[in-house]
Amino acid sequence: MSYSRISGTGSYLPEKVLTNQYMEQIVDTSDAWIRERTGIEERRMAAEGETTSDLAVNAALKALEAAGLQASDIDMVVVGTTTPDKVFPSTACIVQDKLGMRPGTIAFDLAAVCSGFMYGLSVADKFIRSGSVRRALVIGAETLTRLINWKDRGTCIIFGDGAGAVVLESSDEPGVYATHLHADGGHVELLHTPWGPSQGYENLIDDAGKAVMRGNEVFKVAVRRLGQAVEEVLESSGFTQSDVDWLIPHQANIRIIQATAKKLELPMDQVVVTVQKHGNTSAASVPLALDEAVRDGRVQRGQLLLLEAFGGGFTWGSALIRY
Ligand code: COA
Repeated sequence: MSYSRISGTGSYLPEKVLTNQYMEQIVDTSDAWIRERTGIEERRMAAEGETTSDLAVNAALKALEAAGLQASDIDMVVVGTTTPDKVFPSTACIVQDKLGMRPGTIAFDLAAVCSGFMYGLSVADKFIRSGSVRRALVIGAETLTRLINWKDRGTCIIFGDGAGAVVLESSDEPGVYATHLHADGGHVELLHTPWGPSQGYENLIDDAGKAVMRGNEVFKVAVRRLGQAVEEVLESSGFTQSDVDWLIPHQANIRIIQATAKKLELPMDQVVVTVQKHGNTSAASVPLALDEAVRDGRVQRGQLLLLEAFGGGFTWGSALIRY
């Protein structure tokens, strides 16, 4: 039996910090409201000219270093992103070139919004288990602030920029036990950009290319679906809640995270929470949280990790991993 296992993690946050106090200056909100309703204290913003591939490369280099590998050792790169550098080619192709990976290796983007990393992890796991590739880079990278309408207090306080990456390698030992992916395209209007390129640039009016969200309705679906996702991945791999060492959730909102932890009957000191530092970085959020907990020593080799994410689509997914 062949598995994939995480041999290295990395992450990157742009330097520029947008605090809640800054948000108070641009929209009708307050630090207290944002903290209470979301848990967010600050978010990051990519510098002018800094693109998603730049963030992705920074995170990938750290993951490669942690794995003790060079870019030339990697057979495949998958980038989960909703904010690609260009409509085409894929950000993964740009990352492949910037990293100096071997020409001819596999490179593609995955569009699953905030679940992009979970989708990428699941796909890369299957490529490795089938023997198609030995080593893959799975990256979640976003410059979500580029899609923000800075007059909309319901979204501008939530989202931020960042990237996280893991190196997945073929292994005889687990590894990734199970991944589960889902989507339900029946609620597109709850979280979307009303305009996209296929509607024609001549029809791009005002802020139609920016993100809009019916946050309260998204919240309810997210709590329900994530509860199902964590139960499903435990059941399918033969583990129970008490086996889990760490929940590494999508960092969207502290109240959604708390609801999932409650469902798992897991105390919050076994939940990795980083949302306060960078807000919702979409596809980057799970690998960002994982990397932080690995580097500060909370997550140790041999521990059982439950990862989950939920995002626009809607899409959602979970993974159970022996680190
Ligand atoms: N500051 C102050 N008030 C705000 C605000 C802000 N930044 N944003 C919204 N409000 C107001 C609303 O206008 C509304 O006012 P009203 O009652 O006068 O109409 C009130 O707060 C309640 O709005 P509601 O949307 O019900 O708040 P909420 O408790 O659901 O919190 C979110 C809003 C966005 C924080 C919350 O719904 C959320 O986090 N949703 C999930 C978002 C998410 O995770 N998205 C990504 C999924 S991957």
